[in-house]
Amino acid sequence: MSKTFYITTPIYYVNDVPHIGHAYTTLACDVMARYKRSRGFEVAFLTGTDEHGQKVETAAKANGETPLELADRVVKRFQALWEKLNCSHTDFIRTTQERHKHTVSEQFKTILDKGDIYLGEYEDWYCTPCETFWTETQLIDGNCPDCGRETTKLKEESYFFKMSKYQNQLLKHIEENPDFIQPKTRRNEILSFVKEGLRDLSISRTSFSWGIPVPGNDKHVLYVWFDALTNYISALGYPEDQEGKFEKFWPAVHVIGKDILRFHAVYWPTFLMAAGVPLPKRVVAHGWWTVEGQKMSKSLRNVVEPNMLVDKYGVDAIRYFLLREVPFGLDGDFSHNSLIHRINSDLANDLGNLVSRSTAMLDKYFNGELPKTGSLSDIDQSLIDCFPAALQKVDELLEEMAFNKALMAIWELISAGNKYIDDTAPWALAKDPEQQERLGTVMYTLLEAIRIIGLLVAPFMPETAAKIMQILGCDSDNLNLEGQDQWGGLQPGTQIEKASPLFPRIETE
Ligand code: ME8
Repeated sequence: MSKTFYITTPIYYVNDVPHIGHAYTTLACDVMARYKRSRGFEVAFLTGTDEHGQKVETAAKANGETPLELADRVVKRFQALWEKLNCSHTDFIRTTQERHKHTVSEQFKTILDKGDIYLGEYEDWYCTPCETFWTETQLIDGNCPDCGRETTKLKEESYFFKMSKYQNQLLKHIEENPDFIQPKTRRNEILSFVKEGLRDLSISRTSFSWGIPVPGNDKHVLYVWFDALTNYISALGYPEDQEGKFEKFWPAVHVIGKDILRFHAVYWPTFLMAAGVPLPKRVVAHGWWTVEGQKMSKSLRNVVEPNMLVDKYGVDAIRYFLLREVPFGLDGDFSHNSLIHRINSDLANDLGNLVSRSTAMLDKYFNGELPKTGSLSDIDQSLIDCFPAALQKVDELLEEMAFNKALMAIWELISAGNKYIDDTAPWALAKDPEQQERLGTVMYTLLEAIRIIGLLVAPFMPETAAKIMQILGCDSDNLNLEGQDQWGGLQPGTQIEKASPLFPRIETE
């Protein structure tokens, strides 16, 4: 049986336009998807848009359009951005699609038939921007404890899901599966939340109409989170599974921001338990980006637009920066200075220089034709020996989604390569005809090191990796580590290009 891997992003609301926060989640998933493919997995990578609910209905009304017109317009911006960022998702789901609405209705019916959904009456404080009900005691000065905005008291007939019934089963699952919720600190938050007791959850609304109707009672539409979370299985064709995708790919790894962890680590697993569906493999919550020290918000006019960043700095620089700058799971701050600093130092100086110096020397000393290796000295051997250990370390770190540490491990190889140049001083060897074989060994060792480094950076910077492979005369369409990560892949005699700078330095005023 082939190895499979299923990774998902949140589905983004269409009442907002994409910013670096959204780009961050999707890029993290893309790196994982590319890495798993590179290691021989068949990957399903899902992203999409969350198009129902009161927020979208209200935003559309304010724009004088229908909710679907608004969704159609905004969804294009998300799709164009993912293309621009080189995201390799295999499916894009919209909650307004028939396939999704079908799965949601089936899911509701299954849970209803099981007796875990009942009709009751709801009265509580509702925060419209967050689409969340709060109890009186949860409010802070009468306002939403999450966003601080005004809440209103709502009373309505509602279908309820018996979430309370699954409290112990969920607790047991979280306790028995230490990796189910990551990182650990967030897992602890969820554990204490569940221990405080789960209430039954209102899962339908009668106060607005932009949503999926409750099967058999179209006075009600389904609560957006019951609708939205189901996307992860509707995209796989659940429950009929005519194409066998559910069987093949479920369960998923869900990557989300910390803001929506409770929905994914409490609501979603209990819905699945009720429906008799296995739980997700992992729910990984990352931190929150601020901009130059401040919360990103439309009113502060500081929303960082990824399109603009890509146009200015290039796609791979942005991909690298977002995953290198902040340990996954912690909050981070975006600033133009730190971005420029990363580009100039890590990309232009370290990686870019390694490639340009090495290929320039090969061009100068061997007309670009890769020489054979002679006998290896200790200095060669110790560089070569760094690779198997680093490969293993990067594998382990990426399994944990420790993207920044994986990049640091790769950068240790890059530094070792640059140091190797300084230590072997090829320019001095080139002056002595008797050292021709030694010079050949040094050149081969360097370029082979660059080949493996190129494959290692590929999930993060696919365009750069393809460029490196092309320079080295390798197949730039095959960036897989699997089958290509052994030392000695480059063939002597290969004609290698003299590289132009991979990352031009950014001059600052
Ligand atoms: O919550 N820093 O959609 P959403 C980091 N539709 N990540 C950020 C961020 C920031 N400043 N801002 C947003 C929803 N994100 C629901 C999800 S899933 C079944 C339904 C990212 O458009 C982060 O991943 O508000 C967060 O979880 C997501 O965008 C929220 O996107």
